[in-house]
Amino acid sequence: MRRIIEPFRIKTVEPIRFTEPEEREIILGEAGYNLFKVPSESVIIDLLTDSGTGAMSAAQWAGMMRGDESYAGSPSFERFEAAVRDITGFEYVIPTHQGRAAERILAATMIRPGDVVPNNTHFDTTRANIEAAGATAVDFRCAESLDLFTPADFKGNIDLDGLASCLEENPGRVPFAMITVTNNGGGGQPVSMANIRAASQICRAAGVPFYLDACRFAENAFFIRKREPGYAGTSLIEIAREMFSYADGCTMSAKKDGMANIGGFLCSNDAQVARQEEELLILTEGFPTYGGLAGRDLEAIAVGLYEALDLDYQEYRASSTAYLGDHIAAEGIPIVQPPGGHAIYVDAGSMLPHIPASQFPGQALVIALYREGGIRAVEIGSVMFGAGGARVPFELVRLAVPRRTYTKSQIDYVVDVFRDLSRERDRIRGVRIVREPARLRHFTAEFAPV
Ligand code: F0G
Repeated sequence: MRRIIEPFRIKTVEPIRFTEPEEREIILGEAGYNLFKVPSESVIIDLLTDSGTGAMSAAQWAGMMRGDESYAGSPSFERFEAAVRDITGFEYVIPTHQGRAAERILAATMIRPGDVVPNNTHFDTTRANIEAAGATAVDFRCAESLDLFTPADFKGNIDLDGLASCLEENPGRVPFAMITVTNNGGGGQPVSMANIRAASQICRAAGVPFYLDACRFAENAFFIRKREPGYAGTSLIEIAREMFSYADGCTMSAKKDGMANIGGFLCSNDAQVARQEEELLILTEGFPTYGGLAGRDLEAIAVGLYEALDLDYQEYRASSTAYLGDHIAAEGIPIVQPPGGHAIYVDAGSMLPHIPASQFPGQALVIALYREGGIRAVEIGSVMFGAGGARVPFELVRLAVPRRTYTKSQIDYVVDVFRDLSRERDRIRGVRIVREPARLRHFTAEFAPV
């Protein structure tokens, strides 16, 4: 077997400023040990998110030059709409400035106070928008996903029994159900076509609209091709079309598999719903042919959606993310298995058993990664979800891989840093919170070492 290589070469580069641990210690102190407050120019490898942080292609930049910035009726919108329709099959396509704007408009249009919205795992902005509209957001994760370390093909699946009982117990109170592909909150794990199809049948039988949170739809399509019987010879675009065919609509952040730095969309097949959504769009985002985006952004997305469905790109994407996961796992770092599509999730709780949850092992690891190697990652544990003493099942750290951005030797550097940290793991200390805001504390809280 020949190795899988990057299916692109580099035309533009951005310099990385190298820092030493002593300087990083000062930066950490100034940032209150919160990596969201560290300037990106002081980060060597930035794995904070895969959202909007990827490199665009020459074809996307060429599209940017073609962008038509007319307020109404821009041909850039026509190209964007045609691409989204071609891939998703949805009739009504509403552009938004990013995923959460699509979520807000969907929630405001469909939800009444007291409603319930099921999902495999709501992303935090999805949950926040649903709750802001007065509904309860409920996660139905499949049983396999609760065991972090035993690999399974589709640990992102929704628990179908849970979904069915939710619809049965809440007649008339479920405005829509969702599946998030891939399941970001659940370790970046894919959802099978069989699961999407079955969830769709359950929803349709109950008369409940079924939506996809489609952020990483192309990565999900790739995993279906690789792992689900019957799809090995199917193109990614055909798999994507089948996934969308089971849904009544979708929300999308084009900062992921739109391969763009900004953008998103909201789709449906329901004329009345789409009309109401467009009214809200005009109120806060913009006219329906640009929705808060520049014409050039629409062009970049129209091109990027197809590039995300390129098989060579997805082979490289999945294998390079797995490379990071497999190599740090070989250094004895416990990771969610198997590696996800866009990120590796480290179980800081079992890596640092001497640090109790009350001293935030995930945050301790994030700080150690930055101090040791200038690497920026994000805590997904008690800092993010444990406000007010809420019990959090896992203390994870996510290493999200930006698209087409880092080379293999840069990822090897991340592995080297983990190797060094693994040897000194007993010396990593926990932290306490010294200041926190009322909501979404992970963005702005300040910490001190204990
Ligand atoms: N849904 C999922 C599954 C996401 O991962 C995100 C964003 C959104 C919705 C919201 O999209 O950021 O464009 O408003 N996830 C980023 C991340 C922020 O780092 O995982 P957005």
